[in-house]
Amino acid sequence: MNTEANPRPETVIRPMEDSDWPQWVEVDQEAFVDDYSPARTDRFKAILEFDRTLGAYEGDRLVGATAGLSLTMTLPGGPRPVCGVSAVCVLPSHRRRGILSRLMRTQLESLHEGGEPLALLYASEGAIYGRFGYGRATDSLFFRIPTRGARLADHAPSDPSLRLRVVRPAAARDELEKVFESVMASRPGLYARGPAVWDAVLADDEEARRGRSSLRCVVAEDDGGVRGYVLFRTKAGVTDHDLPDAELRLSDLFGLDPAAYALLWRHVLDRDLIARVFAPNRPADDPIMHLLAEPRLLNAGWLDDMWARVVDVDRAMPYRAYSSPVDVVLDVTDTVCPWNAGRWRLSADTSGATCHRTNDPADIELPVNVLGAAYLGGRTLGAYEAAGVIRESRPGAIRALSAAMSWDTLPWGGLMF
Ligand SMILES: CC(C)(COP(=O)(O)OP(=O)(O)OC[C@H]1O[C@@H](n2cnc3c(N)ncnc32)[C@H](O)[C@@H]1OP(=O)(O)O)[C@@H](O)C(=O)NCCC(=O)NCCS
Repeated sequence: MNTEANPRPETVIRPMEDSDWPQWVEVDQEAFVDDYSPARTDRFKAILEFDRTLGAYEGDRLVGATAGLSLTMTLPGGPRPVCGVSAVCVLPSHRRRGILSRLMRTQLESLHEGGEPLALLYASEGAIYGRFGYGRATDSLFFRIPTRGARLADHAPSDPSLRLRVVRPAAARDELEKVFESVMASRPGLYARGPAVWDAVLADDEEARRGRSSLRCVVAEDDGGVRGYVLFRTKAGVTDHDLPDAELRLSDLFGLDPAAYALLWRHVLDRDLIARVFAPNRPADDPIMHLLAEPRLLNAGWLDDMWARVVDVDRAMPYRAYSSPVDVVLDVTDTVCPWNAGRWRLSADTSGATCHRTNDPADIELPVNVLGAAYLGGRTLGAYEAAGVIRESRPGAIRALSAAMSWDTLPWGGLMF
């Protein structure tokens, strides 16, 4: 309890020092109710940029933190620098005292003063970040496919020049990186994976396995080189009657072309002794949905994927490309970043966009969250109108903005940061 004699120490928000790392690991483990091995914390540290961290301190004691990651992400129109927000944690003894709120506000202010115009994150719980102006920007599906009866439809592409090769993931790293680099441009949300991220993707100690097999890799290739790869782990098992009951858990599956992609799926669905393929974290328009002869066997479930925050309306809106012409006045509500609040004229076509302050009457009233949610091209704005979240005063304005902001391939982050 707070008393005059023993007041609660003041909490100060400031960047963390390298030397605070052991404290950060402790706060993170407490907050995320987990224990990390030294190898895992080393991999995590390699991804962090200390000058982009923020700590909440009581004296020298760290009680909360967040980190900004300099990511290059495919946006509608091409790759751009964005800020990935990660490692958000508050010590359980200090929760619900407004520490996260102060960290979030300070981080957004510093991005406003000289950072990227768009921030994105993966949320541990979907109810946290809306209050800070983040919108649910991407979806992911998970599939639980019983392999019995799961086959690709007759129209699924095939290429007789393709063959499969089983390989140790670490030995194929260069080839996997090349495939991913080529695929990245094809989907908004995918972000460049530097060496430290690849180290984490290919990590294969007991902690990374979580009771499953070592990481397995199969590549699809022809005489010209590798055209796709799949990474997965398995969990052996049999039923009470000694029938095969092993599960294959997919991580990456990327193909440079439809035939390579289909062959890799054929392979995971066809492997001996595998009763189920569990494919978590798949894009919401995963082509497998159009390839499986019986799509109901996907047993699909839905989850939120990335959340996006427009830091500065005037910088963010021209930062991406548009699918069709639009000229609208947006009246934006933003209580966390008041510099965004008010009316903006967005004029865009397929060759570029401008976004300026205006006194003209508003066509659409909307909270900043909706701009974040629609930013990567994966939302239809009519749904927000139907939900009563946004309103138009000029008929057709929402439809025009929705069409302009939509993008043909649905966005997806592919890997939690
Ligand atoms: C989630 C977490 C960072 C919140 O930190 P905090 O300092 O307690 O948050 P604040 O006190 O600033 O809360 C701000 C608001 O968010 C709400 N909030 C905080 N955590 C929430 C949660 N998990 N679910 C729903 N609302 C939440 C608070 O109730 C408060 O609402 P109010 O403004 O209406 O009063 C902290 O509880 C934590 O570290 N949790 C475990 C790790 C984790 O989930 N990190 C996030 C990773 S993405």
